[in-house]
Order: sequence, then C-alpha cells, then structure tokens
Amino acid sequence: MSLPELPKRAIGIDVGGTGIKGGIVNLRKGSLSGKRVRIPTPKPATPQAVAGVIGEILTELLSREKAPALDELAVGVTVPAIVISNEVLTAPNIDDSWIGCRTTELLKDLPGRTFTLNDADAAGLAEARFGAGAHRDGTVMTVTLGTGVGTAIIHDGVLVPNSELGHIEFEGTVPAERIVSAAARERLEMPWDEYGELLRRYLKHLERIQPVSTFIIGGGISKRSEDFLPFVTGLRAEVMPAQLTNNAGIVGAGLYAAEQSRLADFRNSEQ
Ligand code: BGC
Repeated sequence: MSLPELPKRAIGIDVGGTGIKGGIVNLRKGSLSGKRVRIPTPKPATPQAVAGVIGEILTELLSREKAPALDELAVGVTVPAIVISNEVLTAPNIDDSWIGCRTTELLKDLPGRTFTLNDADAAGLAEARFGAGAHRDGTVMTVTLGTGVGTAIIHDGVLVPNSELGHIEFEGTVPAERIVSAAARERLEMPWDEYGELLRRYLKHLERIQPVSTFIIGGGISKRSEDFLPFVTGLRAEVMPAQLTNNAGIVGAGLYAAEQSRLADFRNSEQ
C-alpha cells in the first residue's frame, strides 16, 4: 500500500528567541499562502507562555479563507533544541523549563494535530525539498547561523534529525557555535573576510564528520552571503546560500507535520 497524497496546505510555526512566526504553507509549492504572522517571544519563554502565543497565531491563521480544513489540519512547531518523538530534550538557547516538555500534551487543546521538530531541521527540510537543495542528489547539509548554529542532514529528501553539529568541538572551542554563530561574529566584531575564512574551516571540519554533496548556509546572515561566501573555498561539497531564508522554518515545519500526520494515519491503518 502506498502513502496517500499530502493535503494541499498545513500550518508551520517557528519559535525563535525574539519572535514566534507562523504561516499557512502551500505544500505543493513550498511557499506561504498569504502573509505570515509574527508575535514577539514572551519573556520568560516558558512552554506555557509560548503555547499561548501559538494559540493566538493559530486563531488568526485559521480565520483566513485559505486555512486548511480542521479535520486534516497538521501543525508543525519548531524549537531550537533536540526533539525526539515530540519531547524536548535540551534548551541551550531557550528557557530551561522546556527540558522534558512533551509538546503533544502541551499543545493538546489547540486545533489540529501538532508535531514538533528542531528549528534547523525544519529549515533544512524546506531548503532541501523546495529551496537551494531541490533536485540535488545525495546528502544536503543546511547550516543555520544565528544566535546559535543549527545543522540539518537530509539524504535524498529524507531528514536524519537532531544532528546538532553546532555543539561539537571546533579548534579548541566547545560548543563550536560560541565562535561560529552570527551572534559570535557580531560580538567579536569579526570582519567578513575573517568570518568567511572561519566558516571555511568549520565546514571543512564538518565534512570530515559527515561528507555531504551540498552545504546550504541559512539563518538571517545568509542575506549577506556575498560578503563571506567568496572566502568559503576548497571544500569537496558545493556551498550555496539558502533560498527560503526567513520562511524556511515555517515551510519546513508545515511540511514535516503533514508528513508525520500522514505516516501516523498509515501506521494506524496497518494495525
Ligand atoms: C541548538 C540547536 C538549534 C540551533 C539554532 C543551537 O544552540 O542546540 O538545537 O538548532 O541552536 O537555533
């Protein structure tokens, strides 16, 4: 028996350090249907406070004409942490109270079926399927450079979640994100050429751990890729800037939720 087609639309919510962004995702095109909604991240960003904001965003999106039907609604939620089976296991850049949070339980009163995944995994999935990695064979690794460093490994379109290669040791520093993130570049007032050179060495290091065919550089900093990517040379893999930039997390979250929802139905039907 083969898997049924995905519904046309899903909802993606990207939980970041400063803003929580949501949108209706067109799953055929890998783009947003209509404008995205953004609400500042509550402080402290506890699971309950964030769940309240997710509820507000869903209410707004579901009031739209192009909203997915409630009976097939899949909602994907990203968090900047390791997530296994909808349980958050770490919290390097969010409130500590997320550790051990089971998000299906946390979000159970919200409409739709919710699925949670790592933020970089969501962005990487969207880039690999619809963005810079579309139609590329082999292993595509997206590296998001922001407050932290996130990584996503996608092999022939399939996500291998929670790679977390921003947390490895690099040139004597643990975690690597302490010197490689976009926030570190600003904090250390690093010129672009120096940052490009650092990134080249970091990607070279990643290649030793996980050889890939393509690196995609994501995060807000990818808008400035012409300032640093020219210095990222001599790698085996091709290095490209992300294409979906701001919306990659939302699109990937929606796609992940729709696929997980379909998989759950399929497994139930097999029992
Ligand atoms: C977290 C990752 C996350 C990345 C980007 C890191 O500090 O460990 O889970 O993907 O930041 O937000």
